Amino acid sequence: MSIQQLFPSTIYLSSLTPGGAKKFNEEMLKEAYQIQRSDIAGQKWSKKNYPGGYTSYASMNRLHEFSSTFAEFKKKLDPHVISFFKELEMDIPFKELKLTDLWINIMPKLAAHSMHIHPLSIISGTYYLKTPKNCSGLKFEDPKLLSLMGSPPRKTKAKIENQRFISIPAKAGHLILFESYMRHEVSPNLTSQDRVSLSFNYDWVR
Ligand code: NI
Repeated sequence: MSIQQLFPSTIYLSSLTPGGAKKFNEEMLKEAYQIQRSDIAGQKWSKKNYPGGYTSYASMNRLHEFSSTFAEFKKKLDPHVISFFKELEMDIPFKELKLTDLWINIMPKLAAHSMHIHPLSIISGTYYLKTPKNCSGLKFEDPKLLSLMGSPPRKTKAKIENQRFISIPAKAGHLILFESYMRHEVSPNLTSQDRVSLSFNYDWVR
């Protein structure tokens, strides 16, 4: 008898640097708030599309080209993406995978981000700058869910690979990478402090 796990949904978790990058994080956090204050177009966009919070997704979304701090972040991030890329055994040259978007998300109390994918990208991810105790994690949905016609619920304590939704805790200094097709969301921030993260996309650019 043998049991095989086919077609896994792989995610990659790591701290950005072995030491936790605390000082670098503080620098990026400070700059994130500076950008929020000066980004009038982003404030307007967020008011309409990101209720209660701020995102530079539609205004300042190539931070690595705009700021030396975030260019430094890209340098630290790239080796993680290479490791993940190798793990996934993608048969393209890594140089064709390019960081196309890097943006800020500031989520004050009750701000949320509903289920979504990152269309047109290959690998996406999040890096945490500020995570108040008990703030929401990143919740993933089983990609098979849309294909299921009849499937009983799974036990509360089912093995992680058998669950339909998995929430990965958010921790400052840590990053998470996933394939961009995976649906994910951030539940409302129920703490009284801001939850601050960076999000990014790597696209296949030939
Ligand atoms: Ni996302």
